[in-house]
Amino acid sequence: MRLECIECGSRFKIHERFYTCPKCEGLLEVEFEPSELKRKLDRKRLKTDQPSVWKYRAFMPILDESKIVSLGEGGTPLYRCDRLAKEVGVRELYVKFEGANPTGSFKDRGMTVGITKALEFGAKTVACASTGNTSASLAAYAAKAGLRCVVLLPRGKVALGKLAQTLVYGAQAVAVRGNFDEALDMVRKLCEARKDIYLLNSLNPFRLQGQKSIGFEIADQLGWEVPDRVVVPMGNCANIWAIYKGFFEFDAVGLTRGIPKMTGIQAEGAKPIVDAIKRGADKFEPVERPETIATAIRIGNPVNGPKAIRAIRASKGTAESVSDQEIIKAQKLMARLEGIGVEPASASTIAGLKKLVRKSAIKRDESIVCVATGHMLKDPEEAIKVSERPRKSGRIKI
Ligand code: F0G
Repeated sequence: MRLECIECGSRFKIHERFYTCPKCEGLLEVEFEPSELKRKLDRKRLKTDQPSVWKYRAFMPILDESKIVSLGEGGTPLYRCDRLAKEVGVRELYVKFEGANPTGSFKDRGMTVGITKALEFGAKTVACASTGNTSASLAAYAAKAGLRCVVLLPRGKVALGKLAQTLVYGAQAVAVRGNFDEALDMVRKLCEARKDIYLLNSLNPFRLQGQKSIGFEIADQLGWEVPDRVVVPMGNCANIWAIYKGFFEFDAVGLTRGIPKMTGIQAEGAKPIVDAIKRGADKFEPVERPETIATAIRIGNPVNGPKAIRAIRASKGTAESVSDQEIIKAQKLMARLEGIGVEPASASTIAGLKKLVRKSAIKRDESIVCVATGHMLKDPEEAIKVSERPRKSGRIKI
């Protein structure tokens, strides 16, 4: 195991505490030797144990297993959605429901690994900037580990459920006058100045290793097969990379064959990566004032943009943007056709898939997994705003 810069290829020891490459400031990634991984794998248990993040511990960069902090993350349902498939116009559609994680989003998969690394490094305080889910998750795992937690949130823009979680789990929350991108700048500077505070945003290469398990579980739950395509919402753009990396590593050790076409969806008001993919560019132009009802992905300058572009290109995937109206419509379709309640960012995947099928950019005979990243109750205000009011008593229509 080693840390490797995705830009200049410099390699560093796995116990180094870097967030970015000390030589060129490029993004770092944890790399494994496939032969070493193959040796560590317990193939029999892989076939029999229930899916969970720590089922795949051979792929996790942990040096001291006694320090693992877990709330039972992962092992989320992969729903086959035939009614939704018919509506969208594809043959085989699944939704990976990440709302079933301990704090209601996929962030828990990363935090179990990230907080364990914080303990390995001897940190006493952890920090992040967040649109809400990262802060809720970090606050919960910090509480479990007995660490102090500081979170920077864009003032007035965090969904109520996420804010409530963050506060009740006991994080010190700071409302920043500015958006997520500005809050992330501030927390990065804080963690550079104060080496005793460990940064757990998605810049942290260790945290992302836990999120690879979404890819591992999809393959595991499909009987060690990979789907043709995986559709993921993109905000700070780490998750699409992590899922891609999961499929890549399973392929490298021979557990599965091939990598799904990674397809990233952004909101129309915050789509720097979609624009870059459509232009065929390697670099993206940040969006100055991102805006969307999907506050989780209201991000204009995604730090992991270069990783997302690589994942999409390397897997021959694509990217698409969707309007707030399309997101709201998809959220209701998921709830009313399949009983799956998701927050707006997650619904963007179904909205994007529908649009790509309509444009014939996706073939109708593909098998497709949409990753529903967060639970509907994360943003109850949005859910109520887009729904019909309850009727007065005595007016029930059957
Ligand atoms: N979906 C949800 C529900 C999210 O909370 C996020 C990111 C994403 C998708 C996008 O994932 O950033 O890896 O591309 N939320 C972060 C947060 C930014 O602070 O909770 P990404």
